Amino acid sequence: MIQVHNGAEFPHIITGTGDLPTWLKANKAVADEALAVAGTVLFRGFNITTPEDVDATVEAYGEAGFTYGDSLSNAVRVNLTPRIFTANEAPPDVSIFLHHEMAQTPLFPSKLFFSCMIAPETGGSTPICRSDIVFDRLQIETPELVAALSAHGVRYSNTMPGQDDPNSGQGRSWRSTLSCETRAEAETRLSNLGYTYIWNEDDTLRVTSPALPAIKTLPDGSESFFNQLIAAFRGWKDARNDPSKSVTLGNGEPLDVDALGTAIQIADELSFDLNWQVGDVALIDNFRVMHGRRPYTGKRRVVAALIA
Ligand code: FE2
Repeated sequence: MIQVHNGAEFPHIITGTGDLPTWLKANKAVADEALAVAGTVLFRGFNITTPEDVDATVEAYGEAGFTYGDSLSNAVRVNLTPRIFTANEAPPDVSIFLHHEMAQTPLFPSKLFFSCMIAPETGGSTPICRSDIVFDRLQIETPELVAALSAHGVRYSNTMPGQDDPNSGQGRSWRSTLSCETRAEAETRLSNLGYTYIWNEDDTLRVTSPALPAIKTLPDGSESFFNQLIAAFRGWKDARNDPSKSVTLGNGEPLDVDALGTAIQIADELSFDLNWQVGDVALIDNFRVMHGRRPYTGKRRVVAALIA
């Protein structure tokens, strides 16, 4: 069911026909106005069938891109055009829990485009969730968590493989993540970004981020639960990673697990399942809205682009 927050439908759906790039070029202000209040705009019914169509849509939107190569994303992805890549190569039975894209790193996009090329047989929706509304609820239900996050921020730790591991939602190798070949180059990049790190004997690399803000003030003055806590705490689990060791407060102290459980429950309650139809394009404000991926069966192809 479409949600309504502060008088705006979430998501905001724009139904049309014909060429989306042409529409968007002429109506960018309409899309941006809807995005500013709703946090997500879904374009449905337009003539979108290939990654090149999605690339043209992003081009028509006209804002600077943010490439996967430059990002510190921990997901394995495949570029299809210079702007467009597969959303996540993790296996179909893996849930990707709610997160703000790359909020676990100092470099994150402001907006995201997603588009469905192939819809799965069952499941595979993209849950989206208003983080500003989550924040409002947290302030009432777990004010201590909000206070601790405001005071200290949060640090994320994860162990990266030496080579891409497509079986994991966090399987991007340290070489790819840090755009380097040698350990010395990796260390320089990490030091410049304020990370600490430990090399393991099996060529894996454990890194811990600097303290990053976990709450973000939005242009309209509202505050957003802008972080990667839910995904890290629930989902950073693979051969190398134990989710209970993935997050701490910025001062190194543990997070209150019960309060995090409350945050997870509130976010689940506020999630809207975007059930993809082929040709759908979603534009998401990465600062206001979290996203994830439900498990699925069949073949699914959702492609993505990032806006700086
Ligand atoms: Fe994501």
